[in-house]
Amino acid sequence: VEIEKETWLIGQDDKMNYLKVCKEASENEEVFNNFKRNPHYTTILEHDGYNYMGVLYHNHIKNNYPHLSKTLENYTVNDKLGNADIYNHEGLMISPSTLRYVKTLGDIEKSFGSLNEFSIAEIGCGYGGQCLIINETFQFKKYTLFDLPEPCLLINKYLKLNNVETFSFGNLEAECENYDLVISNYAFSECNAKIQDEYIEKVIKKSKRGYLTINAFWAMLERKNADIIVIIKSIHPDLKVEKDSLTNHENYILTWGM
Ligand SMILES: C[S@@+](CC[C@H](N)C(=O)[O-])C[C@H]1O[C@@H](n2cnc3c(N)ncnc32)[C@H](O)[C@@H]1O
Repeated sequence: VEIEKETWLIGQDDKMNYLKVCKEASENEEVFNNFKRNPHYTTILEHDGYNYMGVLYHNHIKNNYPHLSKTLENYTVNDKLGNADIYNHEGLMISPSTLRYVKTLGDIEKSFGSLNEFSIAEIGCGYGGQCLIINETFQFKKYTLFDLPEPCLLINKYLKLNNVETFSFGNLEAECENYDLVISNYAFSECNAKIQDEYIEKVIKKSKRGYLTINAFWAMLERKNADIIVIIKSIHPDLKVEKDSLTNHENYILTWGM
């Protein structure tokens, strides 16, 4: 059973255009080869003019995760497909998104250590970039991706072309399993309360550890960050809540299970 697009609380036109590009990119080579610069895709992800964020992520990696900083070149694998918008960072051409995914990997590793043999779930996965970056570093046992049907088509193509083997797509109707870690960045927080409750029951409650970036700057969101924090804290009392210090938005990083 597919997840319905009504569950995502973003503007209707932006959503329909984005979902169309995801589907087309999964079917058509020309669209795929340029999807990371398609204007209907960059309203949602791979935003234009984001290199100032790339600089912040790069500095954060250098200052906090020197081992990742030294091996940054390995992660440019995520810029090979889709014509990523890359910039020079001290001689290395890399995209702001890839730097964000590496920064997130660093945060996760700092909290939880090695992810080898982990069963990981991700809610709202873009084209699968975070999964690919983790796959470059750790041998997870399983990676279950939850997203709308069209992005799942794109993720499937993207991860297969990048030789990621142990991934599958989540099905909320099936009896969900236990996870070692759930990840959701700028995604769970963009959904309506009804599907959030399903993810809470079927994924978040069943995840020993969690790393969520919650964002809330749209008027149409049904739950405020504060509401999400109260709910998740009632399930995982050791929840740590930090303001994301790299953005000016009211974004919070929630972690549990350290
Ligand atoms: C802003 S993007 C963030 C993507 C990725 N986590 C990242 O950090 O780059 C939001 C993602 O949530 C997905 N999404 C929207 N509604 C969803 C739902 N009901 N369940 C799961 N994912 C959803 C979108 O397709 C998109 O991939």
